[in-house]
Parts: sequence; C-alpha cells; structure tokens
Amino acid sequence: MTAEPGGTRVAVVTGGSSGIGLATCERLSDEGFTVAALDVKPDDAAGVAAMTLRCDVTGEADVTTAMATVAERLGPIDVLVNNAGITGSQAAARCHETPVEEWDRVQAVNVRGPFLCSRAVLPSMLARGSGHIITIASVAGLVAFPGRCAYTASKGAALMLTRSIAVDYAAAGIRANAVCPGMVYTPMTSWRLDQPELRAEVEARIPVGRVASPGEIADAVALLASGRLSYMTGHPLVVDGGMSAL
Ligand SMILES: NC(=O)c1ccc[n+]([C@@H]2O[C@H](COP(=O)([O-])OP(=O)(O)OC[C@H]3O[C@@H](n4cnc5c(N)ncnc54)[C@H](O)[C@@H]3O)[C@@H](O)[C@H]2O)c1
Repeated sequence: MTAEPGGTRVAVVTGGSSGIGLATCERLSDEGFTVAALDVKPDDAAGVAAMTLRCDVTGEADVTTAMATVAERLGPIDVLVNNAGITGSQAAARCHETPVEEWDRVQAVNVRGPFLCSRAVLPSMLARGSGHIITIASVAGLVAFPGRCAYTASKGAALMLTRSIAVDYAAAGIRANAVCPGMVYTPMTSWRLDQPELRAEVEARIPVGRVASPGEIADAVALLASGRLSYMTGHPLVVDGGMSAL
C-alpha cells in the first residue's frame, strides 16, 4: 500500500510518542504518509515521525495551534489518529471507588481529546470533501472491563463520538472509524504484564493465548488509513485475539 496519487498524504497521530501511537507513526510513515506526532512528551517520537509537536489533547488552544501548525508546515491533514489515552490511576476502579478528579481526568484525555482534535481538523476536511478520523477506542468500549469504570465509560463515549462523526459527515466524503484493541504490550500495560502471574491471568482470557504487539494494532490503523476499505465508516474494528468473542 502506498500513498494515493497526487502527493504525500498527511497524518496526525496523537499520543504518538509511545506504544500504539509510536508504532502507528512508524507504520504510516512506511506506507508513505508524512506523519506528525502530537504528544505531551513529543521528543520520544523524534526520528520516527516527520514532525513532532508538544500538544496536550485536553487543551482547546493547544489542539487548535497544533493542528494549524501541522497544516501550515506539512499541508492539509488527510488522516487524524486519535490515539492519546490514559487508564487513570489504580484508584479509578469501580464506580463508587473512583475519585471524581480521576473520572474527569480520564474523560478529558479519552473523550474531550478526540472531540477537540476532530473538531479542529473537520473544517478543512469539509472544505476538501475528504478525510478520515480513526480513533483508538478499546474492547472496553464494547464490553465492560471489570473494575475500570472511568476507562470503560470513556471508551464507550469515544466509540459513539466516532459513530456520530461518521453519520454527520458521510455525505461530505469524510469517514470515521474506531480500532478496538484488546490487550497490547505497551508502557500503559507493562507494569501488569511484566508480572508473570498477572500476565498469565490476562493471557488465559485471550483465545490466541498472548497479548498483541503495538505493531499489530498499527497494522489495523494503516489498513483503515490506506483508503482501501472505502465503504467502511462508523465501524469499531476489533483487534483482540478473540478476547471479546469469548
Ligand atoms: N495498551 C493496551 O492494552 C490498549 C488496549 C486498548 C486500547 N488502548 C488505547 O490505545 C491508546 C494508546 O495506548 P498505549 O497503550 O499505546 O499507551 P501509552 O501509555 O504507551 O501511550 C499513550 C501516549 O499518549 C500520550 N498522552 C497521554 N495523555 C496525553 C495528553 N493529554 N495529550 C497528548 N498526549 C497524551 C502519552 O504521553 C503517551 O505517549 C490509548 O487510547 C489506549 O486507551 C490501549
């Protein structure tokens, strides 16, 4: 798969400095995209993405400035990957245990972030009659992860944001899809997966018997971004080793 004719396509990946985001920057660059990585720790994506920018996706001004800077330096944004996300601290467990500020923090990054980023790129996509917004939701947006109330609710909302954008902009030539990973080995999960007993517990619930690598999720993003699945919009693409099929 290569970039479409007529010039390099531009992709923005939020949370592009680590895990799934970093792998996505690498994969989209390999596929011929010019990639901008936006992150609160932008330096970690240097050398992988063509451009790195400091951006907190929860801040309206940060997001507006970052998207305008990318468009000015690299050209109009063809693909936005809403990837930046957090699980919240261990205290963000069941509903009554979740500190209100942890709830707010998780929703801010996982829901407000994709909303602000989508809101910032849509006007230019509308003007050009094309564009694709890909949001990394989670299987937790489809089925509840036990003891992860704030995260589960946020991923459900991210998925419905995707569907809302898909419905509202389909006629304008803009698509929105979500990728729903199961369990992936990244800095978000390594604290747990590096403990053999906990890893075995996790893997016992995955039919393929192992967690995913970040590259396996980046493959799904790259397939969506390639433009080959052109009739697909509003879809949650599940990449979970069969976890949610159990
Ligand atoms: N790892 C998994 O098992 C898994 C499973 C399903 C879904 N996901 C989702 O995939 C996405 C990426 O997860 P990961 O495992 O690669 O995590 P990660 O912690 O390795 O990377 C997340 C990146 O997002 C950045 N980030 C955090 N808050 C930000 C903010 N406010 N503004 C900008 N950047 C910010 C971090 O600096 C980091 O670089 C998340 O949305 C996560 O919920 C992960």
